Amino acid sequence: MTVDLRKLESEIFGLSIEQSIKFLTTQFPHQVKCSSAFGQEDQVLLDLIYRSNLDVEIFTLDTGRLFPETYALIDETSARYNRHIKTYFPSPEKLESLVSKKGFFSFYNSVEDRKDCCYLRKVAPLKRALKDAKVWITGLRASQSDSRQKFNQLEWDESNQVIKYNPLLNWTYDQITEYLQINDVPSNSLHDQGFISIGCQPCTRAIKTGEDPRAGRWWWETSQKECGLHSA
Ligand code: ADX
Ligand code: SF4
Repeated sequence: MTVDLRKLESEIFGLSIEQSIKFLTTQFPHQVKCSSAFGQEDQVLLDLIYRSNLDVEIFTLDTGRLFPETYALIDETSARYNRHIKTYFPSPEKLESLVSKKGFFSFYNSVEDRKDCCYLRKVAPLKRALKDAKVWITGLRASQSDSRQKFNQLEWDESNQVIKYNPLLNWTYDQITEYLQINDVPSNSLHDQGFISIGCQPCTRAIKTGEDPRAGRWWWETSQKECGLHSA
């Protein structure tokens, strides 16, 4: 697919997020998908999409290692909006093989083992989720990390062959929490216990005041703290 990203950018310039997504859905009917880890940013997007009844499939990648609080939030959100949230799971055969060979906590062994687990539980299912999509909407924000500051609102995602749209890229954390409060959007109860960025249970801890928002992700590593979903 050849896409003129600059043209698309100029077409949505000045539009609200809802209007921009609506425009993308008219260009690519039934081929716009939004991934959600049920983080605060994801809940903003979910609320905007469901409220405006946009033609967007919201899906989540269940790694099998999420927090009970996250599973509870998925069900709560689904019930609140009366919507079906599509869930993708890792390949059972590949998971059986990895766990049989390396055990249940192989991600603590090395960055390589951790990335293998992320690939199997997140990156590969994402590829499946986006197989028939043309646009992938995410809740990425630039101020989440140094590497995310290099992202653009509209990008070409080479590994999944889709247009990636990050509408909240320039939102601040305060804008996100304000939106959730004003619109009474459900959010993860772990946020009240010092968790900001929440991923899998064994790989996420709460952060202390003043710590980097992603310090609680793969906290034992000094790596770039990315799982491979959002490689530049
Ligand atoms: S991660 O790569 O470090 O895990 P992060 O938690 O910051 O990502 O979330 C950034 C965006 O990645 C989310 O807004 C969402 O679009 C996508 N994402 C991350 N994890 C998942 C997941 N388990 N299921 C679906 N989307 C996800
Ligand atoms: Fe595996 Fe941890 Fe990555 Fe989750 S975050 S997929 S448990 S390594």
